[in-house]
Amino acid sequence: MRVGVAGLGYWGPNLARNFDDLAELIWISDLDPARLTAFATRYPEARETSTYADMLADESLDAVVIATPVPTHYELAKQALEGGKHVMVEKPPAMQAAEMDELVALAAERDLVLMPGHLLLYHPGVQKLKELIDGGELGEVLCVYGNRQNLGIVRANENALWSLGVHDLSVILYLLDEEPEVATAQGRDFLQDGVEDVVFCYLRFPSGKIAHMHLSWLDPHKMRRLTVVGRDRMAVFDDMELERKVTIYDKAPWKRAETYGEWQTRSGDIFIPKIPTSEPLRLECEHFLRLVAGDGDRQKVARDGAMVVRALERLTDSLRAG
Ligand SMILES: NC(=O)c1ccc[n+]([C@@H]2O[C@H](COP(=O)([O-])OP(=O)(O)OC[C@H]3O[C@@H](n4cnc5c(N)ncnc54)[C@H](O)[C@@H]3O)[C@@H](O)[C@H]2O)c1
Repeated sequence: MRVGVAGLGYWGPNLARNFDDLAELIWISDLDPARLTAFATRYPEARETSTYADMLADESLDAVVIATPVPTHYELAKQALEGGKHVMVEKPPAMQAAEMDELVALAAERDLVLMPGHLLLYHPGVQKLKELIDGGELGEVLCVYGNRQNLGIVRANENALWSLGVHDLSVILYLLDEEPEVATAQGRDFLQDGVEDVVFCYLRFPSGKIAHMHLSWLDPHKMRRLTVVGRDRMAVFDDMELERKVTIYDKAPWKRAETYGEWQTRSGDIFIPKIPTSEPLRLECEHFLRLVAGDGDRQKVARDGAMVVRALERLTDSLRAG
């Protein structure tokens, strides 16, 4: 598998390292010649270019990995798909649902992979939550909520919803495997005009499940947590924990069938399953290569990516509408 990476800023080098290990890294591209020089010695087998089109013109190239700034994603992904290349593009692949739909259609038409880089989906802790939900161990899932808070990093170009929310949103939609029918958000731009620092999002799904996200860079707590409340058990994924990434609480409300009494609560054991320490980025890159090789549902990853962009767009509209 012959891969080219575009964008060698902060994140791109991590992708280049993984694809160099897992496949053949044959092109690196960045607008900044200094970034190219910095990586040329590390990847002597790869050709360098500051002109993205040079890379696409190489017929032997199978796939393009895009780690450039968000506003460039749609155009670069589109050009790559039109050039017949499989695409893995950092999240979100487009800033508007209509653009994302266009990419999804283009990929489907040409039977190419279009995979958004939703890294958190590959975290073994998130995989464990998915396994618990799909295996019915939590009972009927009622609600999910995410906490992604910290003091900083204060961004200037994207608000807390786009910078932080895209992670939790991709995971919540993946876990529930449903498109929200209601997506509303409230927030405030305390530090910079038009850039919300604190955002609260509410989602409701056709099955009746609900979800919430608290996203903020104006908070005393550093939290990276997702809580799933089921009728029979509850589970928490806490990425700040080193050894107890996932905790399962055998707790639930219950009511005696034979009486018309009040609800009571039951508190049983608390389990801490072992979670592998595999690097999520490595798992993500391996998944992309498997899809390119024809293994797995390549159209579903693109459609799931579109669901995230649609929800982001609706949340943004709601936020702006106040
Ligand atoms: N999955 C994650 O956890 C994670 C973490 C960090 C960043 N990201 C994503 O990675 C992407 C890049 O973020 P970053 O922090 O590395 O940004 P960055 O600004 O540090 O790097 C972007 C690089 O892209 C280059 N570039 C811009 N336009 C280009 C073009 N047309 N062709 C080739 N190169 C071009 C720039 O010169 C720059 O070197 C963003 O989409 C970001 O959301 C993901």
